[in-house]
Amino acid sequence: MNLQFNDRSVTVAIVGCGGFVGYHLLNAVLCRTKWRVFGVDLDFYRIQDKLNNERCEFLCGDLADPAVVERIAKYPVVVNLAAICTPSRYMAEAAAVIRSNYDHPAALAEACAKSGSWLIHFSTSEIYGRTADDSGLLDEDSTPVVLGPVAASRWSYATAKLLTERYMAGLSGLKWTVVRPFNFVGPYMDFMPGVDGEGIPRVLANFSSALVRGEPMKLVNGGVARRCFTSVYDAVDFMFALFAAGSGRQLNMAEAGGTSEFTDSPAYSQAFNVGNPDNELTIAELAQRMRKIYASIKGVAVESVPVPVEVSGEAYYGVGYDDSLRRLPSVGKAERMLGFRAATPIDECLRDSLTWFVEHYFVDGAVASDEDAAASFSKDATASSGKDATASSGKNCVAG
Ligand SMILES: NC(=O)c1ccc[n+]([C@@H]2O[C@H](COP(=O)([O-])OP(=O)(O)OC[C@H]3O[C@@H](n4cnc5c(N)ncnc54)[C@H](O)[C@@H]3O)[C@@H](O)[C@H]2O)c1
Repeated sequence: MNLQFNDRSVTVAIVGCGGFVGYHLLNAVLCRTKWRVFGVDLDFYRIQDKLNNERCEFLCGDLADPAVVERIAKYPVVVNLAAICTPSRYMAEAAAVIRSNYDHPAALAEACAKSGSWLIHFSTSEIYGRTADDSGLLDEDSTPVVLGPVAASRWSYATAKLLTERYMAGLSGLKWTVVRPFNFVGPYMDFMPGVDGEGIPRVLANFSSALVRGEPMKLVNGGVARRCFTSVYDAVDFMFALFAAGSGRQLNMAEAGGTSEFTDSPAYSQAFNVGNPDNELTIAELAQRMRKIYASIKGVAVESVPVPVEVSGEAYYGVGYDDSLRRLPSVGKAERMLGFRAATPIDECLRDSLTWFVEHYFVDGAVASDEDAAASFSKDATASSGKDATASSGKNCVAG
């Protein structure tokens, strides 16, 4: 497979392109390459600024639909980000979560095996399961996996993602790579409850919402669990390291018997952790950091920002809540095989996320209405239109 970044003939399919990671990946592909994009999602709320981009074709479609799957699998590189993946939904809608994280990606994998597409599937660090407080580095190829009890619906998501990984690995002829994200954070994550979404978003958006409303952040079970927070911009850099490796090695004419050919990529048939072990915090520490950063963004004394309060997991998420106490990624494999290591320090990750959140959801001295939040997304579209989409790379490039 020839995936030169300046090759205009390459089209990559991004499924779930309207989500948090999808927003950033789509933007970066348009900024850093000359590729075309076939983007699929159920809605395009976050990416209104991309809808008229001449290098993109968008399909508002459901991965549950076999006709949509067929269309996606026509492209040589398929990135699957589509999933139900918020903790409150794996508690309340376990069966739907399993369909979304096993049935639909399994059908896509079958179609890609037939068409010969390279399927890059986003799994999760949750597949490492119910890791204990004293667990060490989680290694892609040697760490044993122990999930929680069947009555704890928390594990529905991890179980489905893990089965998808195994199914992909077992499908004859599939070119696959699995990505296991460890708590990506950054602008455009999730939603603000009551403004542009309902339910409980993931922890960054959850704490950011509380801060913007002037309410205390809620520490589930004391906030003792530890997580490694990873900048979404680092995650995008990982994807470019993966794309580069996906090209394989070009054989010289003699080796290839007179034709120019590419070998199989070392990135095929591999799972990679994408995380930042240097950014480990307990959830209670995360709340305190966010409190300080929020105070500095608003130019107020930290004492004026409400202190976090504790709440039980069952009271907050409902019966069936369970947790893993530590998730520390081993990152040597991505470093060794792809030359990638996440580098953004925790305070920069949190400042990037919170600054965006405040700008989007705090309008004219008050919490935004849903119209304000939507207008804010279209404002991004106006601000970015007319920029040279291939001129720069990194987090400061916005492709219109
Ligand atoms: N962000 C993280 O920290 C993190 C952590 C672990 C795993 N992941 C995985 O990475 C992937 C991307 O995560 P994200 O944070 O961007 O999630 P997200 O919820 O922001 O985005 C997922 C997108 O998929 C779309 N989608 C869902 N079901 C669909 C369907 N049936 N058909 C078409 N589109 C559908 C949604 O509309 C949404 O836009 C997911 O697979 C998730 O499980 C992310």
